[in-house]
Amino acid sequence: MEDTGFRRGSALLRRHQEDRTRPAAFSLLGREWELLDDVFSPTYTPITELLSSWLPYPQDGSFLEVGSGAGVTAVTAALSGCRAVTALDISPAAVENTRRNVVRHGVADRVRVLHSDLFSVLGPEDRFDVIFWNSNFAEAPAEFVNETDLHHAFFDPGYEAHRRYVAEAPARLAPGGRLFLGFCSIGNAPLLRALCEQAGLTVELVRSERRSPDPDTTLDFQLLELHHR
Ligand SMILES: C[S@@+](CC[C@H](N)C(=O)[O-])C[C@H]1O[C@@H](n2cnc3c(N)ncnc32)[C@H](O)[C@@H]1O
Repeated sequence: MEDTGFRRGSALLRRHQEDRTRPAAFSLLGREWELLDDVFSPTYTPITELLSSWLPYPQDGSFLEVGSGAGVTAVTAALSGCRAVTALDISPAAVENTRRNVVRHGVADRVRVLHSDLFSVLGPEDRFDVIFWNSNFAEAPAEFVNETDLHHAFFDPGYEAHRRYVAEAPARLAPGGRLFLGFCSIGNAPLLRALCEQAGLTVELVRSERRSPDPDTTLDFQLLELHHR
C-alpha cells in the first residue's frame, strides 16, 4: 500500500474537518459555487479546476460524472455543450451540493443528480459518450472503514472502488465512448495499472501538471484515459 497516499489523504481530510474558516461558497473557473459541510472542497487543491478544464466534453453528447462532490465538473460539462449530464455520488451531502449548484447555474434541464454507489443506480440501458471520476485515489488498508460521507472523498479501502470502476465502466460507454479517471501521484499507480489490465484496459496519461497545494507537498495531478486493449 502507498503509505504516502494514506498520509496525504488523512492530512487533507483533517483540513476539511478542522478548517474553521471554510467558506460556504467559493469562486472557481469564473463562477460562484455553493459549498456544503462534509463535501470535498475544490479550494484546498487545484485538482477540480485542472480536471474540469482539461476534460473533452462531448459536444451535444452525454457525460457521466461519478463522484460529483460540489458539482463543479458536472455543471461545467452542461455549460460546455453536453446535451445530457448525469452526476452521481455515494455521499448524500455531495448529491445535495451538486443539486444546489445545478440549480444555481440554470442547468437543471440537462443535469440529473443521483445518489449512487458507482453505477448501481443506473438503468441497464444507460450509456454515455464520456465517463469520468476524480477518484478517491488515496489507498487505505482493505479493513479501513469510510465512516463519514467525507471519508469517501479521499480513501478507497483496498482499491475496491477503483477495481469496480474499471471493471464496470466500459459496459456503460456508448459506441465510441471514452473513459477517464482523475488521478494523482499519491495514488497507487501500479495497482491501478494491474486492475486495468485485469479489466482489459490500458492506461494513457492524457495530461499532468505539477503543483504545490501547500509548502510541504508537491503533487502531479493527472487526467488518465483508459482504453480497451
Ligand atoms: C476527490 S472527490 C471529487 C469531488 C468532485 N468531483 C471534485 O472534483 O471536486 C471524490 C468524490 O467521489 C465520491 N465517491 C467516492 N466513492 C464513491 C462511490 N463508490 N460511488 C460514487 N461516488 C463516490 C466521493 O463522495 C467524492 O465526492
